[in-house]
Amino acid sequence: MYDSGKIITGLIIFVVLFTFPFWYNIGSAAYKQPKLELPKDVKECVESKEFMRTEHMQLLNEWRDMVVREHIKDYKSKLTGKEVVMSLTKTCMKCHDNKAKFCDQCHNSLAVSPYCWDCHVAPKGEK
Ligand code: HEC
Ligand code: HEC
Ligand code: HEC
Repeated sequence: MYDSGKIITGLIIFVVLFTFPFWYNIGSAAYKQPKLELPKDVKECVESKEFMRTEHMQLLNEWRDMVVREHIKDYKSKLTGKEVVMSLTKTCMKCHDNKAKFCDQCHNSLAVSPYCWDCHVAPKGEK
């Protein structure tokens, strides 16, 4: 007969070694948010900070589709109840008026580079 104790020990060692790179990274690779320059004159975004953090890409896609395909221009914020014009440059970048110190801070740290600025004008904070 085989030694089940040894097999189990072997299995445990295998699992630990196999998953080592994963749990070794839990602390160190956790995403650290870079320093962001937030607008000084306003307190709220078009939606909650948590929502914006994770969903701004989808929101922007929706906005574009609404404007370009449906010809609808206004978006009612669920956070403030206010209507804003669905525009990347006229709305988002009015408040976040320095792309380098806001959008790029996160994107560079994650190696994402939205191609939007091939066409849309990016503000540099010279307001
Ligand atoms: C009225 C001004 C205003 C507009 C318009 C605006 N924002 Fe914001 N945004 C803010 C403020 C102020 C905060 C910080 C909110 C807070 O701390 O609760 C913020 C937060 C954010 C965050 C989260 C930052 C973090 O700390 O994690 C993202 C992402 C963001 N905005 C993207 C956008 C995008 C994309 C648009 C356009 C769809 C947009 N914002 C439109 C003012 C604005
Ligand atoms: C709090 C960090 C953070 C801030 C601030 C931020 N982004 Fe992002 N953004 C991300 C992350 C994370 C992704 C990638 C999501 C993914 O890969 O699914 C992303 C992706 C995007 C995408 C989709 C790109 C693609 O190739 O799919 C767009 C568009 C975008 N961001 C626009 C903006 C704009 C415009 C601003 C500034 C107004 C901004 N973001 C600010 C974190 C941020
Ligand atoms: C090839 C050029 C091009 C690229 C790249 C591009 N757009 Fe656009 N976008 C346009 C044009 C043209 C319109 C229509 C402008 C209008 O109808 O006022 C538009 C409209 C929009 C609108 C609604 C109107 C406005 O003023 O903002 C949003 C939101 C938008 N784009 C977001 C994005 C985002 C987010 C990206 C990157 C993920 C992106 N676009 C990439 C050309 C482009």
